[in-house]
Amino acid sequence: MAVLIYKSLPSTNTEAKKAGYRHGDAIIAREQTAGRGQRGNSWSSRAGENLTFSLVWEPTFLEARRQFLLSEAVALALADTLAKYDIRSKIKWTNDIYVGNKKICGILIEHDLGTDGKLARTIVGIGLNINQKEFEEWVPNPTSMALEGGRSFDLNDVFQTLYDALESRYGQLQTAPEELEREYDALLYRKDSEHKYRLPSGNVVHGIIRGVKSTGELLVESEGMVVPYLFKEIEFII
Ligand code: BTN
Repeated sequence: MAVLIYKSLPSTNTEAKKAGYRHGDAIIAREQTAGRGQRGNSWSSRAGENLTFSLVWEPTFLEARRQFLLSEAVALALADTLAKYDIRSKIKWTNDIYVGNKKICGILIEHDLGTDGKLARTIVGIGLNINQKEFEEWVPNPTSMALEGGRSFDLNDVFQTLYDALESRYGQLQTAPEELEREYDALLYRKDSEHKYRLPSGNVVHGIIRGVKSTGELLVESEGMVVPYLFKEIEFII
């Protein structure tokens, strides 16, 4: 395992895709000039104030249809890490980390498939807001460890804690995947309470999150029926 620290990169996820990096390698950038988020969004993070890094995993034992386990492992590792610093977080499906109604961390996971129906390589991109206290206007509901904890944090210390948590949850994925799924479900943001969600049609429904299928769909109960939703099929109204 190697940890590489760059002063500036376009995107650590893009860098981590290069063939030379192997399982366990982490690519950290003090600053990203073209940080990427989910749904084609960009990721904004002030240079030197937060953690922006990508981890390379080679989960060649895992069937592609079980890939959501990796999202669960990463989200739980983030929650474990924040808890070590006394910050209680929840997982907003699929894998945003929230404190109250604010986003403290974004995760961008990109997979390469093998030829055998299994995964070949997974890039885990993590943007964890640590010491930044002011954010650009367009960033939706941001918060940081400093805002939540009322103090600043050492980036190297947080990285090491997070790296260890990621390793430990990756181990659990191999030995006790059902436990990982159970813990992920238990930590879901807005689980078992009624909230509003927007559907692609623009319609707003009142629904209650009941859990997540092992294939990753969100199970939402509405008018007595539980419906599974894929990533782009439902939007949280916060
Ligand atoms: C999101 O919530 O939209 C996901 C954000 C992921 C951001 C991280 S920062 C490190 C890594 N490199 C990137 O370009 N993106 C991810």
